[in-house]
Amino acid sequence: MRTMKIGIIGSGDVAKALGGGFVKYGHEVMLGTREVGKLAAWAKSHAPARIGSFAEAAAFGELVVLAVKGSVASDALRAAGAANLTGKVVIDATNPITESAPVNGVLNFFTRFDESLFERLQREFPEARLVKAFNSVGAACMVDPHFAGGKPTMFICGRDAAAKDTVTSILDQFGWETADMGDVEAARAIEPLCILWCIPGFRQNDWVHAFKLLK
Ligand SMILES: NC(=O)c1ccc[n+]([C@@H]2O[C@H](COP(=O)([O-])OP(=O)(O)OC[C@H]3O[C@@H](n4cnc5c(N)ncnc54)[C@H](OP(=O)(O)O)[C@@H]3O)[C@@H](O)[C@H]2O)c1
Repeated sequence: MRTMKIGIIGSGDVAKALGGGFVKYGHEVMLGTREVGKLAAWAKSHAPARIGSFAEAAAFGELVVLAVKGSVASDALRAAGAANLTGKVVIDATNPITESAPVNGVLNFFTRFDESLFERLQREFPEARLVKAFNSVGAACMVDPHFAGGKPTMFICGRDAAAKDTVTSILDQFGWETADMGDVEAARAIEPLCILWCIPGFRQNDWVHAFKLLK
């Protein structure tokens, strides 16, 4: 695929993992945070990646990645600026996890089965071309995953077919096969995959696995 300018809203494990992947594959990267100092070491080890505010990262990217705590996803996009997202592909890697402790390894979500966080975000930012992706696997496995069971599957969804094609190209590059589950409502099923993915982690400290769709 062609080299792109990628703006990543976030400074946590997901932002760093995906940012590192985009740098590795030759894309231009800017990570966005409210506190630029905290990413100095990461930037140094991932030169020529840049660091800026949420708005600067969103403005920089021709493609934007949202990688912040689910409870503040909407606030972060507002801070990034709707105008900086207009017409752009926005990969939404967030999950609507609450602060409450998991119950027997099962995380709690603040959403209901009939409305995902992804749908809320797409409704609030109608000019952004949101694609749900990367939320159903741990950050350490997001780029170049190697599993004995073969290439894992990333479940994606969104209303914009061309945006999903772009994200599929990125997933190809990062070593995934892609399963397009359709329109925005599919996020009601894709977001809870995070709950399932985390159970072996909380119960057995096993954080290295991914989903594969067999046919
Ligand atoms: N960790 C994983 O392996 C993993 C895997 C798949 C999906 N996810 C999902 O991906 C997202 C990012 O996860 P993460 O573990 O990388 O990081 P995280 O700790 O969930 O989130 C860190 C980010 O949230 C931002 N943030 C926190 N409070 C904020 C506030 N009040 N206002 C604005 N921004 C705020 C931080 O901004 P600052 O930079 O300004 O501090 C930082 O960029 C989450 O939704 C998570 O559920 C995580």
